[in-house]
Formats: sequence, structure tokens, C-alpha cells
Amino acid sequence: MVYPERHLLAIEGLHPPAIAQLLDLADSYVLLNRSGKTQRDLLRGKTLINLFYEDSTRTRTSFELAGKRLGADVINMSVSTSSVNKGETLLDTAATLNAMHCDLLVVRHDQSGAPNLLAQKVDAAVINAGDGTHEHPTQALLDALTIRRRRGRLEGLTIAICGDVLHSRVARSNIHLLTTMGSRVRVIAPPTLIPAQAEELGVKVFHDMRSGLAGADIVMMLRLQKERMAQSLVPSAREYFRFFGLDAEKLAYAKPDALVMHPGPMNRGVEIDSEVADDPERSLIREQVEMGVAVRMAVLDTLSRPAAEWAPNVR
Ligand code: NCD
Repeated sequence: MVYPERHLLAIEGLHPPAIAQLLDLADSYVLLNRSGKTQRDLLRGKTLINLFYEDSTRTRTSFELAGKRLGADVINMSVSTSSVNKGETLLDTAATLNAMHCDLLVVRHDQSGAPNLLAQKVDAAVINAGDGTHEHPTQALLDALTIRRRRGRLEGLTIAICGDVLHSRVARSNIHLLTTMGSRVRVIAPPTLIPAQAEELGVKVFHDMRSGLAGADIVMMLRLQKERMAQSLVPSAREYFRFFGLDAEKLAYAKPDALVMHPGPMNRGVEIDSEVADDPERSLIREQVEMGVAVRMAVLDTLSRPAAEWAPNVR
């Protein structure tokens, strides 16, 4: 075991062997899932709590399915974010969960850093299922698994991440993972949707699809995250689609066999056209969902192993 941590809070800081180990294990779970066999004894007697302070369809369901396939008792808690004093509420919740002796805690929160705070307060292994605009590590792992299975590698591939990079924890986790594994990462968006100092993350920044997509192996589209925008950062959805929405015409700028990804939920006609999203030859969107279950099984499996199996100092 080279995975160095008790928790999975971020991709940033993980070394290639730890990432590769999670992907290799996830690969074996893909085969197991496809064969219809499950390993219901691995997490038998363990409790997994899904603590979601933000909406989610695929991530929550996928963690639930992953936990159940491994035999854990799974409890879903959806919590409203309307409380005034969020810090205190979160710590109260941590104390409650700790008293329940849960083993694995999957957290989604609108505040960046909330899972890190919980990890300091609970005995359970904490998995970040998306925190604010910070990270969404299991999404990056499932995206990497999808790419690696299709292309046989991550190293040397040119991957274009397009759209609302500024608000996207998916983009941030993917940038960390893909650059760590040797991919060439580009981000494409209007200047209002690119974080300051994006280049420091090791990516090339483009403001138009034609030059940004030229020679890309993978085109990863992102949702316009209106709920995280304090003011309107794009003129209109229609205008946005004209310049940055992926349709067949813009996809033609990329490599002829370039593949299309999207973490979901999609805004069809805003960042992506149905013609591309639903094209079985080019779109990996459904496969990403399948890989999501396998990756989460690999993460739950890894984090539930006894501490003696971890190798410290790999970071
Ligand atoms: C993403 C998220 O919640 O960060 N969705 C997901 O987990 N598949 C992306 C998004 O909300 O646009």
C-alpha cells in the first residue's frame, strides 16, 4: 500500500504512485462490477455516512452504491445549508457523528475546507465529495480512470478543460491529478471564468476554442455554475454557447479521434450540444458515471484498511 493518508480530502499533494494505486484498484472493481459479482464482506459491519450539504445526484448515489456493493451499512443525510452559524453547526454535527461511531464519512459542502475541518474532529476516515470551489477528488480519479482505460495512459496526452474553471472544484482536482500524472493540461474560457494565476497550476490558458482545442486528445466540458456567481460573468447563455459551447463544429478543431467528457449535470445548449453529448463514438459521459462507482469502491476499500498497511512519508 502506498496511499499515504487516513482521509481523501484533495488530489493536491498526492504523488503519482498513490494515484496510480487507486486507479489500478478501481480498474479491478470495474471488472468485478461488470461481472455482476460483489464483495459484500469487505466492509461488513462498517458504517458509511453520506453527509451532503449540497445537492447531488450522481455523486451521492455512486457513493451509496459503492458502499453497499462492499457490504457497508450506508446512511444518507441531506442537510440544509440555511443555518446561520455554519461553523458551529458543522462541529456539532461532527460531535454527533462521532458519537455514532461511523467508519467512513463522505462529505459535500458549499464551503471550501469543510471536509478538512471535519477530518480533524471525527474518528472516521473522511472523503471529500466536493467542497465549495476547492476540490472534488473522486471526480478527478474517475475522470482519470475513464481516460486511462480509453487511451492506455495519462502521460503525454493533451487535455482541454473548457468552461467555468473559476468555480469548478472538478477542474481544480483534475488539473492537480492530470499534471501530476504527466498530461498536458489546457484551460479554455472567457477571462472572467479563469482563476487568477491559473498558469501557476501548470496549465496553459486559452480564451478561444479554436486555438485551445487544436490537437487536444480529450475535451472536458464544465457546467456554468450560476449558483456560485455573485454577479453575471457571461453576457447570456446563448452568447456563451456561440463562443464556448461544444458542438460538432468546434469539436472538429481537436484531434479527429478526440473524446468528450462532462462531469454532469449538463446544461444542454449552454456549454454542450446534445449532438456531441449523446454521440456514442465521441462521448464518454456515461462511462464516467460507471467509472465513478468503481473509483469510489477503490477509495472506500483503501481507506478502510488498517493503518498499519499505510506507508507514511510518500507525500
Ligand atoms: C460537479 C460538482 O458537484 O462539483 N458535479 C459532480 O459531482 N458530478 C460539477 C457541477 O456541479 O457542475
